[in-house]
Formats: sequence, C-alpha cells, structure tokens
Amino acid sequence: MAARIAPLTKRKAWKALQAHYKKVRGLHLRKLFAEDPKRGERMTAKAAGIFLDYSKNRITDDTLALLLQLAKESGLRERIDAMFRGEKINITENRAVLHVALRAPRETSIVVDGENVVPHVHAVIEKMADFSNRVRSGVWKGHTGKRIRNVVNIGIGGSDLGPVMAYEALKHYSDRAMTFRFVSNIDGTDFAEAIRDLDPAETLLIVSSKTFTTLETMTNAHTARAWSLKGLGGDENSVAKHFVAVSTNAAEASKFGIDTANMFGFWDWVGGRYSMDSAIGLSTMLAIGPDQFRAMLDGFHQMDEHFREAPFERNLPVLMGLLTVWYNNFFGAQTVAVLPYEQYLKRFPAYLQQLTMESNGKHVTLDGTEVDYPTGPIYWGEPGTNGQHSFYQLIHQGTRLIPSDFIAFYKPLHPLGRHHDLLLANVFAQTEALAFGKTAEQVKTEGTPDWLVPHRVLEGNRPSNTILAERLTPETLGKLVALYEHCVFTQGTVWNIDSFDQWGVELGKTLAQRIIPELESKAAPNLGHDSSTNNLIRSYRKFKEAL
Ligand code: F6P
Repeated sequence: MAARIAPLTKRKAWKALQAHYKKVRGLHLRKLFAEDPKRGERMTAKAAGIFLDYSKNRITDDTLALLLQLAKESGLRERIDAMFRGEKINITENRAVLHVALRAPRETSIVVDGENVVPHVHAVIEKMADFSNRVRSGVWKGHTGKRIRNVVNIGIGGSDLGPVMAYEALKHYSDRAMTFRFVSNIDGTDFAEAIRDLDPAETLLIVSSKTFTTLETMTNAHTARAWSLKGLGGDENSVAKHFVAVSTNAAEASKFGIDTANMFGFWDWVGGRYSMDSAIGLSTMLAIGPDQFRAMLDGFHQMDEHFREAPFERNLPVLMGLLTVWYNNFFGAQTVAVLPYEQYLKRFPAYLQQLTMESNGKHVTLDGTEVDYPTGPIYWGEPGTNGQHSFYQLIHQGTRLIPSDFIAFYKPLHPLGRHHDLLLANVFAQTEALAFGKTAEQVKTEGTPDWLVPHRVLEGNRPSNTILAERLTPETLGKLVALYEHCVFTQGTVWNIDSFDQWGVELGKTLAQRIIPELESKAAPNLGHDSSTNNLIRSYRKFKEAL
C-alpha cells in the first residue's frame, strides 16, 4: 500500500498547504475570531462524550480543507481499514497492529493469520477478572495464609507507564484497603523504596514484560523474588502464591518459576505502548475491579468506532493529528504541551511521551527513505494549574510556538467549595490569554509607563485545543487514551512512517550488555570503546574498588 502513496512533499495537498501557509501564517486569532463571531461554536466536534474545541488554532476553513485533503492523499482511510482488518502494517516487525482488538466486543471477528483473535482476548479478560476477584475478596491467600494487601507491578516502558498512569488516574475508583506500587527503574532505589514498608506475606508481585527479557524488569523481578523468598522463610513453593506474570513469553515466565496457571498472556500484535488495556492492565483491574476495567475497555472501543467510522472533518483523532502536522511541519513547532486540569491525570503526559515519541520518533519512511521533513514532535506537560506558575511564562511570551492541549472535566471528583469553578476558570482563561494576548494599547491604557509596555505585552496567537469530558471515569480514561493513540496513528500515516516499531532503543541496550561485564569483572578489562567511554568506565571501576 505504501508504494501507491506519493512521497509527502510531492503530494498535491502538501504543496497547496505550503502556498496556503505563506498566506495565513501572519493571520492573528484576534482577526479570525472578530471576522467570524460563530467560530468558537463552529470549530468544535463532539464524539463519544468528548468535546473538542479547536477554534483557537491558527487555521481557516481553507487550512482545514487542505489538511483533510492531505489525510486523504496520505491514504488515511485505507490505513485505518488495514489496521482494523488486522493487516501487518508494522512492516519492520511483520506484525499486525491490533490494540483495537483488545477492546473489541465479544461478537466481533478480527482475523490474524487465519484466526479470530477476539475470543482469545475475552478469555484473558475473564481469567484476569477471576483472579482479580479472588485477590480483592481475600479468597486468594499468600503462602502463610494471609490475604494479599499489596500489589507491586514490576515492568518498564509500556509495561509500567500505562499501569502507573491508569492507577493514578483511577485512584478514586480503587480499593483503598489495598496498596499499589510500581517498580520500573533498574536503579535499586526504585525497588527499595517500593517495598520498604511492605510485608512479603501480604504482597503480590506482578512481573509485567511483553518479552520477559528486559534487563530492568528481569533484574527487579529477581531481586523481588529474593526479597519475597527471604521474607517467607525461603520456601520456593511460595513463588506460585506471590508472583504472577503478564507476558507474551510463557516459556521464560515459566523458567522464572511462575505457575503457568498464573500467567496472563497477550500477543505480538499488541505494542508495548499500546498495551495498558491488555493483561498488562492487571494491576489496574486489581485496583478498580473487573467491572470498572470493562467500562474502561468500553470507553476505548467507543473512540475506536468513532475513529473508524466518522468522516474526517468530524473525527477527533484525525483533526488533532492533522493540527499537529500543521504546526510541526509548517510552523516549525517542535513540541506539543499536554496540560490536564485534573490532578489524577498527573502521569498522563509521561504516559503520552512514550505513546507519541516512541511511535513517531522516526527518520525514514516505510520504504526506508530518509524523510525530508520533521516527524514526531516532543510531547511534554504537567497538570494545571501548577504549570501556570512554572513554565507557562514561556508559552505566553517566549520565542517558541507551543501548541497546547488543555484537558478538563465538567464535573469534579471532589466537589470542594469553589475549587472546581476556579480550576475551570483557569482553563478557559489560559486558552483565552494564549489566543488573544494583550496589545500594547491595552497595556498603555492601564497606565503602564512606556518603558515597561513591551515587557507586559502578550502577543497572543498561541494555539490550543480544549478537550472537555463530563467526568474522569474509567470509561472516559479509555476514550482519552484511544483519542491520542489514533491521533498518533494519523500523524504517522501522513508522515508515512512505521509508528509501531522502536529500533532506536536497541543500540543502547546492546552496548549496555557489552559494558556490564567491563564494570563487573575482577580483572581490568581490555577496553575498546572511544576514549570518553573508556575513561568513564575506568573512573567508575576506581570508585568501585575503593568501596
Ligand atoms: O525499550 C523499549 C521497550 O521495548 C518498549 O517499547 C516497551 O514498552 C518496553 O521496552 C518494555 O518491554 P517489555 O514489556 O518487553 O519488558
């Protein structure tokens, strides 16, 4: 399919966008809003209970039409269909990309290599639900007969960021009698701090790793095994009661000593960063229970259906993806800020960093040609209002253009006095200030001395999206995550890259494997790196010897 698509910069719509950009780049949002009093109502879209206001973007109707034309010429419709059909669109790994199957209703059929995968998905969800119910109700007992009160998820990347983010986001719905911890870093501090106040007899450890070979996870898992065994009198039989595995690699999990009955599988067609709704979400299900987990899957599915079916001009992920392309490729914006006005979403930007940057941080097209345009931007962010008192200054008055996504909810989870009105007032105020700023005339009429005027001027014309939903629930979280997944897909399709591999992370892993014995050997190693790396290794060894 890729062969039929013209290179990005040769597509008609691309060329038209280049010419169009020259015409509209100087347009100010003040003018665009003044000329069209209904713009703020018109440039909005709603789907699956998620409302998107994209009116405060530096676009005209023509921009939108051209971006939509670009999506068409990029084969977005065909590529969406190919993904949902289970075609192997992750070409460098020869894999289907089917996170959408993880939330497909039971009666759906999605065929990979001649087999409908949906019944397998539901079998795993049922196994997870049964296990979660037993742990949550206390039927599942630890080795000494005590019930499980603590759950520690051991994983990294997609096997950590999704579970942590979802746990934090859905804490309100979680069983507060249970403690949840997440260990990812190979830095021993992470494990030490996670378990320091936990009783091994009451602790369940979930080893979450798609491959079951990741250095960090396996190192932490072995440390955890030793800690658990020590606390339980060294009886190897205890492992089966205190360890479960989530992996596509049952053989390795079995070698670790985990009972095959306590393994929760998934498949190579689920990318790590797209796996929080697979068995990798076991800690999420243990925290919020199977019903709420299913509600989250339903939220994902509603957004999937919207993405698959809605016309592009009303398609939320498509609109957001195309706007990112507009700023990234025409305005030269290098980043996107994600600003959730919801404290429970504090890990959402970190989660999105892997989703977006591991997916679209690519330098060649599907056929291996070097791109001659920028691809994935840097995603970053923090919850509001905290960020307002930190980095927003740069967004308002700095020299860089930073398109920003504001995310908020109509209803609070903790209706305390005026808090929610004040929170939402800040969301609306920030997008207003970014778009319209404050002119020198306005500053002067406030009696500002002339020399101070330039410092107090806010140029405005800073673009933002506002994303609103009724309330943060498991279902809403599913919709939000799917919204960004498909937004990433849209971008990757326009850029004609493989959004589903991650070869760039391999070299560092290989080099670390070479360096490990050079740090651990008794005899001084024969070092063959560059002079900087050799010197760093020698200096580390010197300190180690002195210990
Ligand atoms: O190093 C990157 C990566 O491969 C991610 O894509 C993945 O989410 C993470 O490592 C963890 O991998 P695994 O689940 O196999 O341990």
